[in-house]
Amino acid sequence: SCIKLINIVILQYNPLDYGSRLKTLQDVKRSNPRPLTLSEKVLYSHLITDAKEWSLDDIERGKTILQLRPDRVACHDATATMALLQFISAGLPRVKIPTSIHSDHLIVAEYGAEADLRRAAGDHQEVYAFLSSAAKKYGIGYWKAGAGIIHITIFENYAFPGGLITGTDSHTPNAGGMGMMGIGVGGSDAVDAMAGMPWELACPKVLGVHLTGQLQGWSSSKDIICKLAGILTVSGGKGKVIEFFGPGCETLGSTAMATVCNMSAEIGSTSCIFPYSSAMSRYLAATKRSDVAAHADLFKEQLLTADPGSDKYYDEIIEIDLSRLEPHINGPFTPDLAHPLSQFKEHMSASSWPSKLSCSMVGSCTNSSYEDLSKVRDLVVQAKAAGLEKVKTPFLVSPGSEQIRATAEERGILETLRQAGATVLSNSCGPCVGQWDRKDVDVAGAERNSVISSFNRNFTGRHDSNPETHSFVTSPELATVFAFNGDLNFDPTTDSVSVDNAGATTEFRFSPPKSMELPTSFSPGDNRFQAPVLSDTSALTVDIHASSDRLQLLTPFKPWEDGKASKMDILIKVSGKCTTDHISPAGPWYKYRGHLENISNNMLLGATNSFLPDASSLEMVGKALDPTDRQTKPVPHTAKSLQRVGRRWCIIGDNNYGEGSSREHAALEPRFLGGVAIIARSFARIHETNLKKQGMLPLTFDDLADYDKIKEGDTISLLGVDDGELQPGKQVTMVIVSKDGSQWTATLNHSYHANQIEWLRAGSALNYIKRVTLG
Ligand code: F3S
Repeated sequence: SCIKLINIVILQYNPLDYGSRLKTLQDVKRSNPRPLTLSEKVLYSHLITDAKEWSLDDIERGKTILQLRPDRVACHDATATMALLQFISAGLPRVKIPTSIHSDHLIVAEYGAEADLRRAAGDHQEVYAFLSSAAKKYGIGYWKAGAGIIHITIFENYAFPGGLITGTDSHTPNAGGMGMMGIGVGGSDAVDAMAGMPWELACPKVLGVHLTGQLQGWSSSKDIICKLAGILTVSGGKGKVIEFFGPGCETLGSTAMATVCNMSAEIGSTSCIFPYSSAMSRYLAATKRSDVAAHADLFKEQLLTADPGSDKYYDEIIEIDLSRLEPHINGPFTPDLAHPLSQFKEHMSASSWPSKLSCSMVGSCTNSSYEDLSKVRDLVVQAKAAGLEKVKTPFLVSPGSEQIRATAEERGILETLRQAGATVLSNSCGPCVGQWDRKDVDVAGAERNSVISSFNRNFTGRHDSNPETHSFVTSPELATVFAFNGDLNFDPTTDSVSVDNAGATTEFRFSPPKSMELPTSFSPGDNRFQAPVLSDTSALTVDIHASSDRLQLLTPFKPWEDGKASKMDILIKVSGKCTTDHISPAGPWYKYRGHLENISNNMLLGATNSFLPDASSLEMVGKALDPTDRQTKPVPHTAKSLQRVGRRWCIIGDNNYGEGSSREHAALEPRFLGGVAIIARSFARIHETNLKKQGMLPLTFDDLADYDKIKEGDTISLLGVDDGELQPGKQVTMVIVSKDGSQWTATLNHSYHANQIEWLRAGSALNYIKRVTLG
């Protein structure tokens, strides 16, 4: 029976079965033959048609819930632990669609690749053993520590034009550089797909970006997305796929397009995609997949590019002329604070940001390609020729994958960088995600400093947990020249760098780097892949110890009880930005990602509580007043204290609550500590779904001004949320009783559709899956 199961898996999920994809698409548009955008083609060709006939006329963007079957699921080590724990508790024998796990987030950057990997092997031995054993048992591919950053490994091995991948990381849209739609999801969404359940997505709107011209001088593809972030802000892409079209697309290499798609996560979009192009075909050939390119060529017009005339069907269009696009530097603290390079010095001097750089970094899944590293080398060589032997700041470089590292090492790129003073880190996330054992500034003392990087995200404390680290994101080439200048008051297009040549100072100006899109061929490097086991694995066990403080089997949440949402305390009224980094901080907490009880001790430690005096002071951030003893404590302590005495609680949130990453811990923790509802001005998409999946109730204010009326000591009851009452599209009433006994009501909205209400009733989506799959 196991062999039969495997055959089903293999037969059902031939990812390159363009023929049947096309048939699905033709069925969807049989009643309406209008031209389709590329995003529509990719999504609709992945619709599950077993139980429902889909028709284009019935699909309304922004409303209709699509039921999709992704071609593949991917998880990184920081989210895989919890996803696997959930998969284990669903009780299924093996995954039903191709799945991979990537060990990239846990490695701490400190001394450089070799030493850091050695440290990770010791520090995370238990987690790595768990991931490896669970991958073996459940038919999952496992990329060990040092193999590469999840999105780069996907790009090199799995991404193909017209595909659909879900990943438990918000930068999964990176695959759009290969014409594949990548969508970031929470671990529980990944578990749905791994279990063969339909994966549900509200049909996104489509924002077309029309590219014309060709990049010039210092401009790079990073500037496309940095500019878009400035236009659209961190929530402007919400509910939308960003689809590129126009002649400018053909001028970009595939990893350059991946950079754009990757960082589309910073504008909150659902995904981002480029049409199949000759650059993608070149990349497939360079990564030994010419057969995929040859097959894709046959379906280019029908499946892999937008139909002529489909631009009428974009919900909105933004024009970008690449020939006139300026280089950008975005930050600090938010990726949408965009500065065109020509204005950056002016903005610096008008601000109080430290201009002296403490560190420059090249890497992350956004900009760690071979092309990126070759541009960095070009600049280092220019500097050396001018007598500038060494960078002026610490300069950290992370290749995106073992293949890129091995190729760059063989071609002498990495040695050139080392000679200029760079530290080559392992092929992993490192400082991008707070895994940085930083010694150059006083992190504990919150030393003010600035860093610049080719990364994508620069929220407060993101890299080093220091709220005073001002982080700017830009292209790898700008990050490199800033490393040589050491100060942000610099514009390489107009300014020179001083070179001290045996006492005589000369001036040297960098030229824009020449780049090499691809090496003639990639070297494979060390094999760090554990292939999925296809034979019977029922006798295999998963390594998990009852006494572990890092891994803990999950206990299912209890089903909804009517009356549970009445007379709730307000744990915290969050004001301002509250990303998943604020809700469940990373850095030192990473180690507890597989242990719900332990990681819950970090809940909302980065959030600002407007109920407290001097709310945004360092001392008050992450604190909440405990109504049982009137003491101000860390938020999780107050939550536990309420839970201990059986008092239920909710959270009041501000705009775009839960933006940022897909980590479902940000939803699991409030549920675990006795939370019932989160009532916010608005939610980020992934986090809102994660809350629903874990049986939390996310609601939004109908009148945004009601947020301001909520006071410390209010209690909240929700009417219309109990069994049979909560209905799709039907508003909920909130009754607020103040300390003085006065009472008022507010109207709330929700985005539940019928199936999701079942999750709430069952206590979690996982409980619901179990009921459906195992009876
Ligand atoms: Fe890793 Fe940073 Fe990308 S955390 S997956 S390199 S955004």
